[in-house]
Amino acid sequence: MRVLVTGGAGYIGTHTVIELIQAGHQVQVVDNLVNSKEAALEATSKIVGIPIPFEKLDLLDREALGRVCSSFKPEAVIHFAGLKAVGESTEIPVAYYQNNVTTTLNLLEAMQDCGCQKIVFSSSATVYGEAQYIPIDEKHPCAPTNPYGRTKYFIEEILRDWVISDPSQSAVLLRYFNPVGAHPSGTIGEDPHGIPNNLAPVITQVAMGKRESLKVFGDDYDTPDGTGVRDYIHVTDLARAHVAAVEHEETGTQVFNLGTGEGASVMELLGVFSEVFQAKIPYEVVDRRPGDIAICVADPSHANEALGWKTSLGVREMCESALNWQSLNPDGYKDD
Ligand code: NAD
Ligand code: UFG
Repeated sequence: MRVLVTGGAGYIGTHTVIELIQAGHQVQVVDNLVNSKEAALEATSKIVGIPIPFEKLDLLDREALGRVCSSFKPEAVIHFAGLKAVGESTEIPVAYYQNNVTTTLNLLEAMQDCGCQKIVFSSSATVYGEAQYIPIDEKHPCAPTNPYGRTKYFIEEILRDWVISDPSQSAVLLRYFNPVGAHPSGTIGEDPHGIPNNLAPVITQVAMGKRESLKVFGDDYDTPDGTGVRDYIHVTDLARAHVAAVEHEETGTQVFNLGTGEGASVMELLGVFSEVFQAKIPYEVVDRRPGDIAICVADPSHANEALGWKTSLGVREMCESALNWQSLNPDGYKDD
């Protein structure tokens, strides 16, 4: 299948491009490199052994997007492109709505013009907000608590309306839990700009001596050891779910949680990282981070059954591959 991958130079995008190509699909990547580097695609192309067609393009540029769509003629689009920092979204919400929502509208118009009827969208567990019950299934009410989460929620609603307008179209809304890890080759992985927000890249940078210690945001949550519990999912498992979603033939709107169904606390994840690293990784407990929730764990059974997809990699493989990537690339990708 011809698959247009927006944001395909990013963390999850590059891992997905590998799985798509290895499954026999033809890809075209578009990305404006606002949060990624072309070097990531070069490393990806070395893994798959073929060049990856890439167009540097901002999805806000409707004309350029139209040109790529009419020449590539995608049969499906996987839409990763977007801004994703929760904290930043509270500071510059308009830029988030513009970059995430307006770009999606442009994309739908361009798809319409070239007759593409299928979109797979990167949503997030953040659309659920504070969990009312655990594990969270897809029927859990949505109540996002920050502008980033609301862009995801609004885009989901827009895609539902798009499908209602023509039931032969299909939208697959993938709600990711917490992606962690890297490709086993160690040549592609997560390359956050500046100080990382997420737990795993902070831990690997502390392990490599790039940061002094991990700040554990609160140990007084109502969880077994008092630290926050999340459902960490290996980025390769997550990438494979996109192949299953693209190949899934049902039309209409479908929503899938992508997680393992298992929770791990901050201290548990740190423990596995230390075990793999074979040394203590320094940490200190500080105040809770505003906006954090205690527990977020998926019920992934709908994706397991309907997509025939299941995670196969555990927390140990996540930590091993993340450390491997960080130690081989202490400064991330080289500048373009
Ligand atoms: P990423 O930042 O590595 O990748 C996103 C890519 O989109 C980047 O390469 C960026 O340059 C590109 N991009 C952004 N705005 C663009 C625009 N206007 N035009 C063209 N390209 C643009 O992020 P990721 O971790 O790979 O996440 C991919 C998607 O998954 C995002 O939509 C994100 O919100 C969502 N998501 C990520 C996580 C996570 O923890 N990583 C969790 C839930 C959902
Ligand atoms: N944490 C720390 N110290 C840190 C970073 C994180 O203790 O330096 C803790 C957090 O308090 C939380 C856990 O580690 O308990 C995980 O935090 P992350 O920042 O890695 O992930 P979140 O669950 O807060 O959010 C992530 C993405 C969001 C996405 C959400 C659900 O950042 O974009 O998962 O998919 F919406």
